[in-house]
Amino acid sequence: MQLKEMITADEIASIVRRMGTEISRDYEGKELLVVCVLKGSAIFFADLVRRLTCTTEMDFVRLTSYGANVTSSGNVVMTKDLDSCIEGRHVLIVEDIIETGHTTRFLVDLLANRRPASLKICTLLKKNVPEKPEIVVDYLGTAIEDRFVVGYGLDLNEKFRNLPSVCFLEK
Ligand code: IMP
Ligand code: MG
Repeated sequence: MQLKEMITADEIASIVRRMGTEISRDYEGKELLVVCVLKGSAIFFADLVRRLTCTTEMDFVRLTSYGANVTSSGNVVMTKDLDSCIEGRHVLIVEDIIETGHTTRFLVDLLANRRPASLKICTLLKKNVPEKPEIVVDYLGTAIEDRFVVGYGLDLNEKFRNLPSVCFLEK
């Protein structure tokens, strides 16, 4: 198996800068709670929050989908909840990648129930796969073709998260 670069570290940096500008503009004058979905989003999240100029707090959830290594099973469980109460607050979910959308759908439904003032979704990557639950992405880094990618937080069996670029695996 070989790793091939799909999105370079420089390209990621410029995507993150652009997203940071958009988000900062939209939340100007408001207080934002950004939610990192562990573990995959950790690196993107760390870079993104440093581009934000609005008043920002950070919180973390951990979600796991059982059953498969390479594809999402749809059986999503939360293994770490937020520390903060989000009622009446502006909340932005920061995802690494949306594939089937099951993971994001689960989190959106859960957090929407807690009556935030607003709830939006930001993701670095979105795969072009057919048949998804309806997810409106408010801030998108870039769409990618339907390949398994690693690096910049994304893993294959917990490996490769530390790579500075997004790579795909070629047999
Ligand atoms: P979804 O529920 O199908 O949208 O999948 C979302 C989760 O599956 C992501 O948060 C990742 O943890 C994982 N995932 C989906 N595609 C990839 C990939 O290409 N590489 C690494 N992880 C992925
Ligand atoms: Mg993930």
